[in-house]
Amino acid sequence: MPGKNMTLFYSPASPFARKVIVLLQETRQLPTVELFDVQLSPVTPSGEVIARNPSGKIPALELANGDTLHDSRVILDYLDHQHSGEPLIPREGPKRWQRLALASLADALLDAAILIRYETFLRPPELHWPTWLDAQQEKIERVLTELETQADTGQLQRFDIASISIACALGYLDFRQPQLGWRERFPRLASWYAEISQRESMLSTQPPA
Ligand code: BEZ
Repeated sequence: MPGKNMTLFYSPASPFARKVIVLLQETRQLPTVELFDVQLSPVTPSGEVIARNPSGKIPALELANGDTLHDSRVILDYLDHQHSGEPLIPREGPKRWQRLALASLADALLDAAILIRYETFLRPPELHWPTWLDAQQEKIERVLTELETQADTGQLQRFDIASISIACALGYLDFRQPQLGWRERFPRLASWYAEISQRESMLSTQPPA
């Protein structure tokens, strides 16, 4: 195993960065990556990140040759090509597109939850738009309904790209919407998540308290 030859720009609170670190752990590549913790928000970007990714978004992965990869989906795909174990993203066939579409659904839940966080935490209260917030919350509910079906039909058994994305999305919901009470409405998903969240890769990447 070579030494650290890549740098991941991340924040411990970012669920998108969490997906990357979970995959690094699951594929035993974490020792090859320097973790660079950046403080940023959509209105206070980081110069370190902007210098590498003009969008200013994390995660961003600087490679040994100086190139930088972003966003999380591109980074995950790249890293899944750098280990010799069973791929966590199927390389071809219908399974590839099914698993990537499911991972994308989890990312859509995350997008909605993060938009709610920004609206309620960063925006002045007098500018909050309840209809828009409700629409984001309804999106989350629809995605959870589909994920309950996926859990019920055994689609989450392997901890692959889709399962990692779903686990990190649920972790973010617990982090930023602890009052949501999704477990009562989606018991099979809750039972799957209770088990999966005990994996070392999930335990060691929990968002800050
Ligand atoms: C958060 O603090 O909720 C957060 C941090 C980084 C990226 C997205 C969300």
